[in-house]
Amino acid sequence: MAPARIALAVSTFAAFTALAGPVLAQTPKAAVQGVTDAELREQIERAVGEAKSTPQTRFEARRRARDAAEDAIAALRTQGYYDYEVQPDVIDRDDDDGGEPPSAVLIIKPGPRSRFAGAGIDWIGAEPLPEVIIAAEQAMALRRGAAGKATDVLAAEGRIVAAIQKRGYADAEPGVREVIVDHADHTVRPTFRIVAGERVFTMPAGLVPRGGELTVPKEARDLAAKQPNPVRPTPESIAVGKERFQVYCTPCHGEGGKGDGPVAARFIPPPDLTNAGLQKARTDGYWHSYIRVGGVIMPSYGEALSSEESWQIVNYLRTLAAK
Ligand code: HEC
Repeated sequence: MAPARIALAVSTFAAFTALAGPVLAQTPKAAVQGVTDAELREQIERAVGEAKSTPQTRFEARRRARDAAEDAIAALRTQGYYDYEVQPDVIDRDDDDGGEPPSAVLIIKPGPRSRFAGAGIDWIGAEPLPEVIIAAEQAMALRRGAAGKATDVLAAEGRIVAAIQKRGYADAEPGVREVIVDHADHTVRPTFRIVAGERVFTMPAGLVPRGGELTVPKEARDLAAKQPNPVRPTPESIAVGKERFQVYCTPCHGEGGKGDGPVAARFIPPPDLTNAGLQKARTDGYWHSYIRVGGVIMPSYGEALSSEESWQIVNYLRTLAAK
């Protein structure tokens, strides 16, 4: 019974304070106006936050609106809006009858959302091994045309550094990144500056060295090969697989999976995935584990892609089988 009574007490108290005004009620620091996209508005409101009391003076309301404007701008940039207008303002109440105090508002025009238009890595100091460069570029995974969220830029940088560290560059770290936001065409182009540092070879868990390269133990792969594909090859699943394949895999495997991608020339050429014999010899589970763990040259996608996405790619690869 006690919890119910407490809840009741709290709600009565809240109602009372709302009437009474400035004591302890949680009210938005500033009201957000002009944002029609519900999700964006929610993000902004969360960033602006709440206050324990309503402002008592015009001065206080104005200061609150200005603080809130900074938080709103941070939220907008986080979501890929860089061409916003955010105007802090104060709504005056009729104070003659000792009525409500002034309140803070933000009048916001989010403007168009910017999109990623390419991204690159500048290596500071010595470049890492070529396959590590490829792995870093793959890990970046900022798709052209995706919303240019500032958080995604930071996440990409984290993935790049993690991918390099995992491949033996334990001291890899990010330098000062450059992000060009083009307000004319609403695009975002980050360039990450990465210090790879020395290669200090450390062994990721579950992997064994073979001739200086990493590969998964044969027994583990044989086991993985027996795993049935839990994702049905519906048109939707194949479409997702195709999309991911085009983002992550075509640089080496080529648009059609024939192994003629633009970077393939620099390495051992990848196999022709459309080959009927290969398609027959390999189980879905085998290919799934290959995508997850990688090969001798091929990077692992265990971090960049979920297990489900990897199955979806396998479903797509099956549609490429040469007849
Ligand atoms: C850096 C180039 C590169 C990228 C990027 C790459 N691969 Fe590979 N892939 C290879 C090479 C090279 C091989 C041959 C084995 C090896 O040496 O790693 C291979 C092998 C494979 C195989 C195994 C073929 C067999 O023997 O049965 C599959 C399946 C595969 N890749 C799928 C993918 C998928 C899916 C992606 C994207 C998620 C991808 N690859 C990205 C280079 C690449």
